[in-house]
Amino acid sequence: MSKKTINDIDWNGKRALVRVDFNVPMERGTNVISDDVRIRAALPTIQHLTSNGASVVLCTHLGRPGGKVDPALELQTVAKRLSELLEAPVGYVHDCVGAIALEQVEALKPGEVMLLENVRFYPGEEANDVEFAKGLAALADVYVNDAFGTAHRAHASTDGVAHQLPAVAGLLLERELEMLGGVLENPERPLGAIFGGAKVSDKVKVLERLVSQADAIFIGGGMAATFLKAQGHNVGTSLLEEEMVGFCGQILEKAEANGVAVYLPDDVTVTKNLESGAESKKVPVDQVPDGWMIADIGPAAIDTFLSHLPDMGTIVWNGPMGVFEIYPFDKGTEAVAKGVAFSGAVTVIGGGSTAEAVDLLGLAEEMTHVSTGGGASLEFLEGKVLPGVAALDDA
Ligand code: 3PG
Repeated sequence: MSKKTINDIDWNGKRALVRVDFNVPMERGTNVISDDVRIRAALPTIQHLTSNGASVVLCTHLGRPGGKVDPALELQTVAKRLSELLEAPVGYVHDCVGAIALEQVEALKPGEVMLLENVRFYPGEEANDVEFAKGLAALADVYVNDAFGTAHRAHASTDGVAHQLPAVAGLLLERELEMLGGVLENPERPLGAIFGGAKVSDKVKVLERLVSQADAIFIGGGMAATFLKAQGHNVGTSLLEEEMVGFCGQILEKAEANGVAVYLPDDVTVTKNLESGAESKKVPVDQVPDGWMIADIGPAAIDTFLSHLPDMGTIVWNGPMGVFEIYPFDKGTEAVAKGVAFSGAVTVIGGGSTAEAVDLLGLAEEMTHVSTGGGASLEFLEGKVLPGVAALDDA
């Protein structure tokens, strides 16, 4: 790791401002946390700091309140959940900068933990405003970034504040960089990349990169339709990105020129309606009927993908194979998740919906690494420098 980490600091008696990513999903219309993986993922850093004599001031965003206070996005529930997980009290401050926040953090004792209010209630956060960053910096002696999921944003709490204080990486950030970096730098070969999700346009850069770095590419999900179109197939009413058909053709040509094997579905599950229990049928890719759309990869495609996964030394997976939230279009994602989990390869799962699917299937523990960052893991794999990492002190 080329950046300093929390292991490089003597924490005794110091106050740490830790940027975490507690942007957790809530059950619709409530403030009940539906998935606390991101909170759990921050525990090792918090515990390292408290057990080494630091007091810990946590800050995060939740949702996109756009620089205004939104009571639905306040963090009381998050503080409560963190307290349950830590089995220790967690203070909660109804602000994240200014006199009240300062007064409360100054009362913290070594080993104590406090969560500040949503940093995105201030416009200065997303604007990366220097004065706002200074307000955050005034709360602590050392800044720790453990918010991998937000490291692709150059905001005041991920970038600006790091220029105001000694700034180091937390354990989660360190592990994410190590695992995702390992895929790009020195993967156990062969390297297999599985791509899915709705759109090719979301994955342009990562496809361009991996078509020269991977040994095999597997493509499923909604984005497979555009690749199938590039191969001349009719894709019915599937989500098709006409403007990306040419790009998909180029990726297929580059793969061939580079000797990279590409596995597109041999068959697909199609439906007329994306609704739970809707009528569906499995057809070879050259027989998608007019008026029907691709909703999942089919059983032959599953067999093909699964037969090659155990040959891989490393597998990186980004994007579900079908509309996994809707039965019966979850089969491809479920089968591939099991295939990846039990492949024997080093397995790195991109965050966002892929991580969610793996978690729902109870397979997260079987993977080498499940990223907590959706956009961040994609940007990292594209080869971009993440601002939240760049801003930290060099080792
Ligand atoms: C995420 O959930 O991807 C991160 O928390 C970043 O959130 P954002 O896309 O609203 O910046």
